[in-house]
Amino acid sequence: MATLLYIEASPRKQRSHSITVANAFLDAYRSRHPNDQIDLLDLWSETLPAFDGDMINAKYAVMHGEDPSPEEQTAWAQVGTICKRFTEADKYLFSVPMWNFSIPYVLKHYIDVITQPGYSWSFDPEVGYSGLVTGPVATIYSSGGAYHEGSGAEAFDQQKPYFEGWLGFVGLSIVSQITVGPTLSPPDEVDKVLENAIEDAKNLGSTF
Ligand SMILES: Cc1cc2nc3c(=O)[nH]c(=O)nc-3n(C[C@H](O)[C@H](O)[C@H](O)COP(=O)(O)O)c2cc1C
Repeated sequence: MATLLYIEASPRKQRSHSITVANAFLDAYRSRHPNDQIDLLDLWSETLPAFDGDMINAKYAVMHGEDPSPEEQTAWAQVGTICKRFTEADKYLFSVPMWNFSIPYVLKHYIDVITQPGYSWSFDPEVGYSGLVTGPVATIYSSGGAYHEGSGAEAFDQQKPYFEGWLGFVGLSIVSQITVGPTLSPPDEVDKVLENAIEDAKNLGSTF
């Protein structure tokens, strides 16, 4: 039995395009893998610890092989619990809306907490950085506008390049993606865009 971790980054729930498409993926996935566990991590109901000085000092203490202070140990224990939920999953699904050309701040906060030495990456002077997380990833991107090649707006897209870069850094290189957008167009155009993305999600979910 595998665990699929679904990380949800839109607060719009029933009105969210990325969540609607992710749910189509999940329905197909459940039919294909009825015994798998789906772990929903809703970043809007999760209380993540502040990524503050103690947490950064703990991270640097680990990186430099130093003894962490009691405060840093407390911070590192919190990090460990959150990191393990992430790294122990077998497969990953993300719904990722574009916010101000990048990703929602709750997702960036989560990334800051889990991108940690010994959990999601390691460093060796001989080989450099290595990602420690394994498993296939499906990402559902949504955006109000269009940023595809030829749109003329490619340079504004700091959603996909950033997120894909981060996935690669932590070792997640088997990535499938579906884009639902533009979602801020006339309703009949949005319906079509959504319909196509749902179809793609059903196909991907049933083979994932
Ligand atoms: C705070 C905020 C910032 C946004 N910034 C952008 C943006 O920079 N570019 C864009 O194309 N759409 C932007 N949008 C529109 C969303 O990307 C679009 O509505 C998308 O469908 C949201 O995903 P969701 O429906 O899953 O919540 C923004 C929306 C919000 C709420």
